Amino acid sequence: MNTAQFLVKSDLVFVDKASYTWQTPSNIALVKYWGKSDPQIPKNASISFTLNNCHTKTKIDFTRKCQAELDSAFLKEVDFNLFFEGKEKEEFKPKIASFFIRIQEYCPYIFEYQMTIHSENSFPHSSGIASSASGLSAIAMCLMSLEKALNPNLSKEFINKKASFLARLGSGSASRSIEGPLVVWGNHPEIKGSSDLFGVPFPYKVHPIFENYQDTILLVDKGEKQVSSTVGHNLMHNHPYAANRFQQANDNLSKMATILQNGDIAAFINLVESEALTLHAMMLTSNPYFILMKPNTLQIINTIWEFRKEHNSNICFTLDAGANVHVLYPLEEKEKVNQFIAKVLAKYCQKNQYICDATGLGAKQLQDFI
Ligand code: DP6
Repeated sequence: MNTAQFLVKSDLVFVDKASYTWQTPSNIALVKYWGKSDPQIPKNASISFTLNNCHTKTKIDFTRKCQAELDSAFLKEVDFNLFFEGKEKEEFKPKIASFFIRIQEYCPYIFEYQMTIHSENSFPHSSGIASSASGLSAIAMCLMSLEKALNPNLSKEFINKKASFLARLGSGSASRSIEGPLVVWGNHPEIKGSSDLFGVPFPYKVHPIFENYQDTILLVDKGEKQVSSTVGHNLMHNHPYAANRFQQANDNLSKMATILQNGDIAAFINLVESEALTLHAMMLTSNPYFILMKPNTLQIINTIWEFRKEHNSNICFTLDAGANVHVLYPLEEKEKVNQFIAKVLAKYCQKNQYICDATGLGAKQLQDFI
């Protein structure tokens, strides 16, 4: 694998101060990534819709260290402060610190700067919506803006590719949050340009039915997950069904690539729901086993199935590694489905809360944080 392409090869012209703000979205996988090897290499390819409203906004202020600091023994220490929603958050620092350590080879310039990071999410912090995808992709974009300032020759294409590569090293699914509306991550013979190292926009023409696809996220359980994604991925090592699952996911991605082009929505619904349930089946059959779905997750699934049958609708669901349900439907069914969600499904959500979202185009640079 060609990781050398992401090393800094040209001489950098350092600036004393810089500040960049990026907004990057969350994403929802249609074919799931579950199982990886070191360093953050997926066991199968995955594809996701990039979201629009669920995002993280991050500003990094970079101040170049003075010569004495640069010469000191602490040179190889990444120096940063972290503020989340206006408050200094020591407890979030270890994850970001280990991300910086992991990417140091590719971004050696981070040692030259003192960094102050300000970050906030558009969704409630404890909503059960994974913030690692949007959070790490936002930091990656800020770093790439700095790299571009130090080396103006970088192309937009390279910046996105390297940002996705860096984000992946922080959290696998974050590699799919740089671009949109559909991103593939993981090497797959039928997806031109696909790679285990970074996400690529789905490279074929997508049927209009999948344009501006809607995703309403039903917040079933806003608590901390009992089992983190990292632990869950690890349980795929020595999992009795792992080899079949990885093969199935790659086969499903082939099928999904065809469906996205030909607009076969019945096949889309079948594949998306099967992927969601298979992901959770892997959790149920891990050792130790665990259940992330809650009773209301199942209530919602059954109610969606009834509604689909009765109303001849194209509504379907998917799940990520938690109890929340993503309700997916075409734009043309928005009114009907929104009424159904408000009248029937909302009662299964904590405090009746849900988030209306749709597919989006990925990272956006902002002028400032406010
Ligand atoms: C179920 O990307 O959160 O959402 O690489 O350990 O950070 P790490 O895992 P993460 O796993 C996401 C798993 C998933 C499926 C998916 O998004 O493809």
